[in-house]
Order: sequence, then structure tokens, then C-alpha cells
Amino acid sequence: MTPLKFYLLTDTHYFEESLGAEGKAYEEYMKTEAFYLKESSAINKAVFQKLKDDKETEIIIIPGDLSKDGEFESHKSLIKELNDLKDSGKKIFVLTAGHDFNEHGRSYKNDEFVPVKGTEFKELYNLYYEFGYKEALSVDEETLSYIAEIAPKTRILALNCDSRRECKGLIDERLLTWSKEQLDKAKEDGASVIAMCHYPIIPSVPVFDLVGDAHVKNWREVASFLADNGVELVLTGHMHIQSINEFVTEKGNKLYDICTATTVGTPAKYRKIEITEDGTMDVKSINVDGFSLPSEFHSAEEFFDWRFKYAIKNKINKILEGGSGIVKLLKQLGSKVLNSIKLKTLARLLFIKIDSSLKNVKLIDFAGDLATAIFKGDMPYIKGTPEYDAISKALKRLSFILKKLEPKLSKNGVNINLTDMLLNTIGNNKGYSDNNAVINLKG
Ligand SMILES: [Fe+2]
Ligand SMILES: [Fe+2]
Repeated sequence: MTPLKFYLLTDTHYFEESLGAEGKAYEEYMKTEAFYLKESSAINKAVFQKLKDDKETEIIIIPGDLSKDGEFESHKSLIKELNDLKDSGKKIFVLTAGHDFNEHGRSYKNDEFVPVKGTEFKELYNLYYEFGYKEALSVDEETLSYIAEIAPKTRILALNCDSRRECKGLIDERLLTWSKEQLDKAKEDGASVIAMCHYPIIPSVPVFDLVGDAHVKNWREVASFLADNGVELVLTGHMHIQSINEFVTEKGNKLYDICTATTVGTPAKYRKIEITEDGTMDVKSINVDGFSLPSEFHSAEEFFDWRFKYAIKNKINKILEGGSGIVKLLKQLGSKVLNSIKLKTLARLLFIKIDSSLKNVKLIDFAGDLATAIFKGDMPYIKGTPEYDAISKALKRLSFILKKLEPKLSKNGVNINLTDMLLNTIGNNKGYSDNNAVINLKG
């Protein structure tokens, strides 16, 4: 294997601030948005500066959701930044995704949503020509997937599963056939191939297997296809989560999927990855910081966490708003319970004992902390922690419901065990970190 060193960042969701990000409509929208919008250009510029400062690492890989929502001016400003990085000696390979094309872009001015020029999917090839397509050995014109040499004898297969609204996350037979031709050609030429794809191929945490939009639709097929054709590593985004996962095919081949967070929302990380000649991959995660913070926050981490928790709470409460008659009453009751109930009450209702440290924690705060921990990776609630203990007792108590659900959720010959799935989602039991890991690709 040729030694390879690169930066991986994703879901920059770049928004050109001069389009407008202010007023009542903006404030209302931001109540349920988990990542920053107005501040996104300043945050991303701080990351780009750090990349520029590292003179040792040339390659930068960005697997999609480059702009907030396809505003043409956001693309133009981001491309200006990418050109600047290129001029400083970087080689940049991007993939576009669902948030990069949109005929109806919008900004936020004078308390209203204001339409702005969007971007059509077919425009993305020319816009990002300098950042992948120019170097491409082959381009699949329908999806704008491509394969390019990123280093001697090393290619990147950029698989676009997010080029059509009607089948988001699908890598169809036609695209697999094109990919097979590219992988066969690489083999013939003695080149190794790493892949990038916007959607995670392997679900980032076990429960995401049950969430349709959280992974490539036909993920087992695609993971097997890649691994059985010599691809050992895929770089992904979309879920704004830090995770590293492996999948072993029936033939015994292994694929690693490194999914990385957005740069503009918690956990706000990017990665530096180094692969040595013997196949040892060293993954390091770096915090996004170095931009000016509002005075009420002491650290970038606090700033990003605040937005995530605020948006999650508002989202849950929004779901519980409205309705009429009995639905309204039930929603009001649900909202009251969620916002006021403490874990000790819930434990009493379920006839389980929980650790005293959890008793006075509100259910809504507990849910917020669990969600934040899951998206940060290295989920800490493993066996022996009060949280694991409480959740495993609750799941045992509710097992009669879970057992009824499991057959309905199991498909394609894969049996679902909800208890294992949930416990492996709140605790990382994989044997390596989601953030900083040393992995032997040939292992
Ligand atoms: Fe995204
Ligand atoms: Fe996405």
C-alpha cells in the first residue's frame, strides 16, 4: 500500500452570510436547527486556516453537503475558499450531496424567508470541476460519481448516492456496474482504492440500521460489493456523527466506514488520517475551534453543544404541540410528562431500581445527554455505568413489547435484537475508539 496522509472534513453546510440570516423567520427556524447557519462561513474559514497551516498534509477529502441548502452564492463563496486552499498547495476531492442542489434557495431577512438563487444538480460538475472532476479517470455523468488518482497508485472512488430526491441513499445496479469497471481497472493498474460516499454505508450506531435515511439503502449489498472488490475503507458523512465501524462479508473481507461530524454543529470535528505502507491506519479527530465565540460561551465545545441540546428540546416539544380534541390533550400530557418527569418517577412506574445519581435527572435532559453522547462517538454508557444499568433494567421490564416488535423489524434474513442494538448504541463495545483509533487495514 502507498503511504497516504489526508484531512477528512464533511458537511460544511456553508452559508454565505451576506444573503441574510436575521429576523423573526430566522430565529424561528434556528429553534430546531442543530447546527449553525449564520456563523458557518466563519467556522469553516477557521478550519480551512488550520489545514493551510499544516504544510505537511496535501490532500483534503470532503464527502458532501458542502452548502447549507444549495444557495448559489454559498457555493460561490465556498469555492473561493477551496481555491484559496488549492493555491496554498492542497489537493481537494469533494463529493456533492442532497444539500448542494436546490432550485429554491432561501435566505432570512426582515422577519421573512427570502428566495435566493439556487443551484441545479447538473451545475455542480462545472462548479466543483477543480476539486475532483478535473483529475478524474472516469465520471459517471448521471450521478456525478467519479474515480481519481489522489496519490501514486492510490485512487478515490467517489460514489454519489444522493443525486436524486426520489431515491436518496440508493446505490443502484447501474452505479455498481460502473463502479465494478473502475475497481477492475484499478486492480489491473496495480492501484489501491479507498471510497467516499455521502451516506454512511455501515450504520453509525446499531439502532440507525432501523432508520431509513441514516445509511445507504442497500448497505449490506454495497458494503459486501466494496470489500469483496478490494476496498477496505470508505469515508462518509451525512449523519453529523463521529463513528468508525467495520463490516465483514460472507467471503471474510472487511470494510471500515469512517463517518465524520459536520464542521458546524456538535460534535464539530474533522479528522487527520495517516495510512502507512504496512496498512496501519492512524485516525485522529480534531476539534473545530479558532473562531470568535459569543461572550456567554467559554469554549467552542460548549457553543456547539448548546445549539444541539436547544434544538433537540425544541424539536421534541414541537412534535408535542398542536392537534385538536383528544390528540391535543394527549400531546399536552406527553409534553408535561417529558418536560417535568424525573427518572426516579419513571423507575417507580417500571418497578426498577436506579442509581441515586440519576434519580433527580429529568427525562428530557437524560434523553438530550444520551443523544449528544451518541453523536460524539465513544458512547460512554457501557456495562457497569449507572446509565447502562438503568436502561438495561428498563429494557428487561419492557421486553414483552420488544419481543413483539422484533419480528416486524427483522428483514432480509437479518434478525433484530432490540436490547442488544440499544445497549450497543449507548456504549461503544467495538474495541476501538470512534474518534482516535489505530486500525490495521490488513488485519
Ligand atoms: Fe449534512
Ligand atoms: Fe446529508
